[in-house]
Amino acid sequence: MKRNKIKEILESGKSGYQATVAGWVRTFRNNQFIALNDGSSISTFQVVIDYENMDPEIVKKINTGASIKAEGEIIESMGKGQSVEMKATQITILGEADPDKYPLQPKKHSLEFLREIAHLRFRTNTFSAIFRIRHQMAFAIHKFFNDKGFVYLHTPIITSSDAEGAGEMFRVTTMEIGDPPRDEAGQIDTTKDFFGKETNLTVSGQLEAELAAMALSEVYTFGPTFRAENSNTSRHLAEFWMVEPEVAFNNLDDNMDLAEELLKYVINYIMENGKDDLAFLETRLLNEEKQKPQIERSAMPLTEKLKFCADNEFVRLTYTEAIQILKNSKPNKKKKFKYIIEDWGADLQSEHERYLVEKHFKKPVILVDYPKDIKAFYMRMNDDNKTVSAMDILFPGIGEIIGGSQREERLDVLKSRMAEMDIPEEEMHWYLDTRKFGSCVHAGFGLGFERLVLFITGMSNIRDVIPFPRYPGNAKF
Ligand code: 4AD
Ligand code: MG
Repeated sequence: MKRNKIKEILESGKSGYQATVAGWVRTFRNNQFIALNDGSSISTFQVVIDYENMDPEIVKKINTGASIKAEGEIIESMGKGQSVEMKATQITILGEADPDKYPLQPKKHSLEFLREIAHLRFRTNTFSAIFRIRHQMAFAIHKFFNDKGFVYLHTPIITSSDAEGAGEMFRVTTMEIGDPPRDEAGQIDTTKDFFGKETNLTVSGQLEAELAAMALSEVYTFGPTFRAENSNTSRHLAEFWMVEPEVAFNNLDDNMDLAEELLKYVINYIMENGKDDLAFLETRLLNEEKQKPQIERSAMPLTEKLKFCADNEFVRLTYTEAIQILKNSKPNKKKKFKYIIEDWGADLQSEHERYLVEKHFKKPVILVDYPKDIKAFYMRMNDDNKTVSAMDILFPGIGEIIGGSQREERLDVLKSRMAEMDIPEEEMHWYLDTRKFGSCVHAGFGLGFERLVLFITGMSNIRDVIPFPRYPGNAKF
């Protein structure tokens, strides 16, 4: 079907020509005014019909949710709210929607209700705006790296390496659950499984990205990752998308610069290219927050917050400095934190991260040099032998949005770290080879894509920024 996109008709604002539009009916007023949306923009388009001269059978089927095609002249609009509209001469019903059964009535539905009908929620203003912005963010990320000459690397989804230790894994197998092949000792015989060994869904593409960075210098992955943690929070998914650049010859400072530049680039890209959707989401957030007590409301409207983040330098400080701040903080002294910070070495919880960002610095924060015992084996050991060259970026309202590090490039140090952490060398021979042959300083990080979508859209639950969320107890659709 040759059709005119609603976005283009509205943006051009021209009138006096014949057009064809197709989309889904949002509302139908006075048997005359159809508000039509085709997903090309947040705006609906007004199609005006002359119902007295139209087949009543067709008029009867113009209901909320139905898909229609409308043909007619684009004319200047008399009504307010739009510059042009269509004076339809022909309406074709493409797909009916029974008004007694269609779950999305033209009224406000709760986000919880819409999550239950995630297959239809794309048809709401909120979710169509979110998924257009999500798309633009993905595009901006590819553009950012492509413009810098990075190679987009597709790392495996099914993996037999389990040394990352980033989280609990999902087992991948074709073995019969009730009747797996067993060896002579009665143990499950994984050599008979599909891949001849135990395999899992990947928790991160980092280790493979490192291998490629040791030849291509600058690579990034952008793909789904899986964690079987039982975290039922508004920040965790069992299946989420991660962006993982890995760069040869970069140290931790270069790594922080790259991460800060990427985040600001994506935020600026959306402020520039997603204006209408952002404006809609900003109003949505203001209305939602009117229901909340003053102290729970955002300090700034959405676009102001984004601009603030894009225009200000992130605060950089060490874990040790952060622990000092937290130890002396009011909520710690008054035992308001669930986890009281007592000693150096404590892992930071989301309440601590959010205190630093939202209360203390009121800016995004990059924390570096964490105790080695709370970080992964591959992070580069600092000269103090106590901390590693790790970095976490903490964002207001989100907490950790990026985790990364300079990698341990020294073979002997890496081996002794692995021994300390009981990671068998044999399983990691391919990883160790990069340190044996032409090793070099390198660094990388992982950006939780949905966490950045949360931040930019101003939504508060991660289940609302991915089309079909997977979390404990839910894999619908
Ligand atoms: O800090 P993480 O676990 O780091 C890694 O996996 C490294 N291998 C990355 C690297 O250096 N290449 O995860 C990175 C980011 C977190 O900062 C967070 O934003 C996001 O991934 N993340 C999750 N997002 C949604 N749901 C979950 N369950 C997440 N777990 C981590
Ligand atoms: Mg992390």
